[in-house]
Amino acid sequence: MKILVTYYTKSENTGKIAEAIRSALVGLGDVEVFRIQMANDYCDCALHFNPRVILDVFLNKKPKMKTLCDFTKYDFVIIGSPIWFGKIAPPVNTLIQNAVGIENKWVIGFVSSTLNHSAYEKGLRVALETRKSKVLKVFSLKDSEITGSVIQEIGGLVSRS
Ligand SMILES: Cc1cc2nc3c(=O)[nH]c(=O)nc-3n(C[C@H](O)[C@H](O)[C@H](O)COP(=O)(O)O)c2cc1C
Repeated sequence: MKILVTYYTKSENTGKIAEAIRSALVGLGDVEVFRIQMANDYCDCALHFNPRVILDVFLNKKPKMKTLCDFTKYDFVIIGSPIWFGKIAPPVNTLIQNAVGIENKWVIGFVSSTLNHSAYEKGLRVALETRKSKVLKVFSLKDSEITGSVIQEIGGLVSRS
């Protein structure tokens, strides 16, 4: 089975979770990682007050990525995003909007946030379902924390798909 783990991260929390998932899935198949990179990334300082971040989030913008992602060759895709102002990060919107082969693809999502609010799962689910992917579950996680039981659940969902 070919599995893709793809994510955007700014302060590495989502990246750490993606790495934990990647290493847990290695036994189930061929796992590749695609880190979403913007053509022109947001500056690292004071993101909460960055007008470009605020406009992109609230206007649902899809900023350009360095490289687009093709899901065609994968049996299963796992997508992660930080939560910004209650929503998924704009580059993740860009990925979902432009991903070739996303229709009918088995997908698990995860979002990373400080508050770990279950309502944060919805935005990623809706974006994925709008592109007609088959969303098994979206996990809401706190910062870079992922428990053994979530890892186990993801492994079970992937192997049963
Ligand atoms: C601009 C911005 C907005 C954020 N908004 C929220 C929010 O609405 N709710 C929340 O719980 N955390 C919020 N956070 C915290 C991040 O979701 C959290 O730190 C996440 O783990 C960051 O992921 P990363 O390290 O992969 O970039 C926000 C962080 C930033 C930078």
